[in-house]
Amino acid sequence: MKPNRPTGIYFCLLIGFLSFSSSSASPSLRVVDPRCEYSVNPVGVDASRPRLSWRIESNGRGVMQSAYEIRAATSRKALESASSCTWATGRVQSGRSIHAEYGGPALKSGERVYWSVRIWDDGGRASGWSVPAFWETGLLEPSDWKADWITACVKEDTFSNPCPMLRREFAVQGPVRSARLYITCLGLYQAEINGKPVTDALFAPGWTAYNKRLQVQAVDVTSLLKPGRNAAGVMLGDGWYRGYMTWTKRNRIYGDRLELLFQMHIRYADGEEEWLVSDDAWKSSNRGPVRVSSMYNGETYDARMEMPGWSSPGFDDGRWEKVAQTGRGKDLLTAQTGPPVRRMEEIRPVGIFKAPNGDTVVDMGQNMVGWLRVKACGPAGTEIVLRHAEALDKDGNAYFENLRSALQTNRYILKGSGTETFEPHFSFQGFRYATVSGFPGEPALDAFTGVVVYSDIPQTGGFACSNPLINKLQQNIWWGQKGNFLDVPTDCPQRDERLGWTGDAQAFARTACFNADVAAFYSKWLQDLEADQKEDGAVPHVVPDILSLNKTNRSAASAGWADAAVIVPWTVYLCYGDKRILERQYASMKAWVDYVRRRAGEKWIWNNDFTFGDWLMFHSDRSDYPGASTDKDLIATAYFARSADLLSRAAGVLGMAGDAALYRDAYEKIRSAFQNEFVTGSGRLSSNTQTAYALALAFGLLPEDKRREAAIRLAGDVRSFGHLTTGFLGTPLLCPVLARFGHEDLAYMLLNRTEYPSWLYPVTRGATTIWERWDGVRPDGTFQDKGMNSLNHYAYGAIGEWLYSYVAGIELDEANPGYRHIILQPHPGGGLTWARARLLTPYGPVVSEWKIADGRMAYTAEVPPNTQATLFPPGGDIRKMTVGGKPLEKAGDVRPSRYLDQDVIEMGSGRTVFSWPYGVQD
Ligand code: BGC
Repeated sequence: MKPNRPTGIYFCLLIGFLSFSSSSASPSLRVVDPRCEYSVNPVGVDASRPRLSWRIESNGRGVMQSAYEIRAATSRKALESASSCTWATGRVQSGRSIHAEYGGPALKSGERVYWSVRIWDDGGRASGWSVPAFWETGLLEPSDWKADWITACVKEDTFSNPCPMLRREFAVQGPVRSARLYITCLGLYQAEINGKPVTDALFAPGWTAYNKRLQVQAVDVTSLLKPGRNAAGVMLGDGWYRGYMTWTKRNRIYGDRLELLFQMHIRYADGEEEWLVSDDAWKSSNRGPVRVSSMYNGETYDARMEMPGWSSPGFDDGRWEKVAQTGRGKDLLTAQTGPPVRRMEEIRPVGIFKAPNGDTVVDMGQNMVGWLRVKACGPAGTEIVLRHAEALDKDGNAYFENLRSALQTNRYILKGSGTETFEPHFSFQGFRYATVSGFPGEPALDAFTGVVVYSDIPQTGGFACSNPLINKLQQNIWWGQKGNFLDVPTDCPQRDERLGWTGDAQAFARTACFNADVAAFYSKWLQDLEADQKEDGAVPHVVPDILSLNKTNRSAASAGWADAAVIVPWTVYLCYGDKRILERQYASMKAWVDYVRRRAGEKWIWNNDFTFGDWLMFHSDRSDYPGASTDKDLIATAYFARSADLLSRAAGVLGMAGDAALYRDAYEKIRSAFQNEFVTGSGRLSSNTQTAYALALAFGLLPEDKRREAAIRLAGDVRSFGHLTTGFLGTPLLCPVLARFGHEDLAYMLLNRTEYPSWLYPVTRGATTIWERWDGVRPDGTFQDKGMNSLNHYAYGAIGEWLYSYVAGIELDEANPGYRHIILQPHPGGGLTWARARLLTPYGPVVSEWKIADGRMAYTAEVPPNTQATLFPPGGDIRKMTVGGKPLEKAGDVRPSRYLDQDVIEMGSGRTVFSWPYGVQD
């Protein structure tokens, strides 16, 4: 069995015990990457005490921060002296370098705060000041709004209307010092000023629980204005608000009117101020080029209807209609907290060919999300039709059936004036292939560019090893994440669904945190989870919850789905050291656990709500085998225990001793109820499935003396099948549990397996993303059930966390979250000769890389400043270890130590190369 990992108390002792010396005479010490609320210089922040973070860069070793000083001021210049600052902390004796709370004077709306920070290391040396950064508040009060909600007075169609356009001209009286736009809408908007887009954000204002929260974007538009006549133009689309959503083909789910709220605050160089707002002086038209716009179905764009200059001054809007003010309130407005969706990458097609059925097909070589930018030149009225598909069928034709009712079709009608370029506005497609018809002339490869669109989540992690198939798996996991992090964490990006399924989100959360910085992304989504939580605490199956909106059916409270309410904030807390997310979500977390507590009653067994169970687990047609179906009551009770356990820990972190004890006690009661109900005297579970054992072992539900036996049964099951049988809930836990309880060989066997069912089977079939089902494409080349067969579903990609944390060995320490204390515990195995992971933690980059060659292990660790790491050298006889070529005892700044019965190495920041004799791998 794997040893327990070091915990917080141990770490505190360590800090005192280790005193690291810098290796060079005067190592550099710099503060870089200053951030406010996870963003670089954000505009439109509404937190009253925003949190400031920075990273330390140094070529020294063992660098720790011992103190910091922050200054905040109304200008960059004023930062130069503490006396001209609005807030100066002076030297604060503290190691905190992430999430330091602003503690200056209360902030007003539209206020820009410049800030800078310097630090002292543990030798008392000071860094220079960081480059000044800033944040700017948004409109904090409903009363800050002078604008009125307006709507276009245009005739509306029934099917994804032509997109209404709204415009207004205005005068700028003189040189402008700064101009801010505060904008939102019901629907989606794209805004321009003087012919230029105001932002590169897409799908704004984003998808939230619209009837409870509506995000406002704040944009610096200073550079777009000029003295004299100016104009603003905004096009609106149905989007999630009013378009067709879900497989039920409903539209107008949130409302049936698109509305705009627009407020521009101009500050002139001479100190005067002016506001340009949405009001009845705006005009509207529905005769623009976007004729049909639907998330699922695509866009029809008629370039002949373009209105050149519509968002510039001097355009003749004589035929435009009025707008109406709607009188809608401003109470639901809130600042945008997550990253915007952007065009993040571009890829080129890898081929274009004629399919057997005669279709011309463009192949992007990658199942991607976004759209094709198309360049064409032809006579006016030529209609180019692009229909998007994820795969080719057995015969080699584009396969559309798994899209269900989503048409995924863009139509572009040329205006006939030379080369024209098209992109959709309020629609995205999930595809690798597109059929092209109507293209003028022979379509060439360079007519198409894949525009890859997702939330701006910076990639933070990478994993690679000596098995190229596993590397492809990792790439597929990352592509699956990119494609399904489009403002909300979706299940899939192509069929008539694309919803924030909570179960998928919780299963994948930890992997997501390795691949990218998703803290702000999840923070936003969790606010919607809370907003859409039912009054009794039940958590919806999808967030934002459009399944139960306007319906009597509640679509909520499924075990393993609803538990996202607890698991996702806890995961963000662990990975980013973000305590505030626990504070903010605590009421929601507790409401969920209390809901289940009431449902379970005195039995502590939760068996009376609908639950999806171990969704899409392995099944077969064998008449003696019913499939690896795990008792839903067992699953539900296991998740009940898990959420109670995590809630208790969260209460502990927040210093709520009463709740911590209450939910610890609940956890214990659920555990013993679980044991009475689902565990036999000899340690067998009532459901003899891999998922049942994985849940029970991962969530600590078995008595100490039955764990080994249970793990043996789990291993036996894996051996007898020779493969995994788990669904959405069991899959993330399977390899971690096998490995933790002494069956690493089987975990690696599962990872390396290439036949169905396995992670690598899709890779061998040419998959470029993760599939929803283990056999999305069957070994005989046919597709699984077209009603449920997405080829871009991230849930099974949850194996990613095991690659980073176990195979490569970067793990966090729950008691020192955010990777303040890093556990480096690589596990060579499975025939791999090397593996490497890199993770940009909130403190800086961590690298863990191992390589076996010539009977030796070469291990490289990189540890960022202001953190410390404990290395568990695999198979290591540390007496024979060399560090940077020198014997360990001469290494100086890394130290051998013991943790329980294991030899470990303690180290501080810097890059260190270890080597030791290592047994031949099987
Ligand atoms: C979605 C899933 C989701 C499930 C609920 C499906 O249609 O695509 O990923 O979790 O329904 O069981």
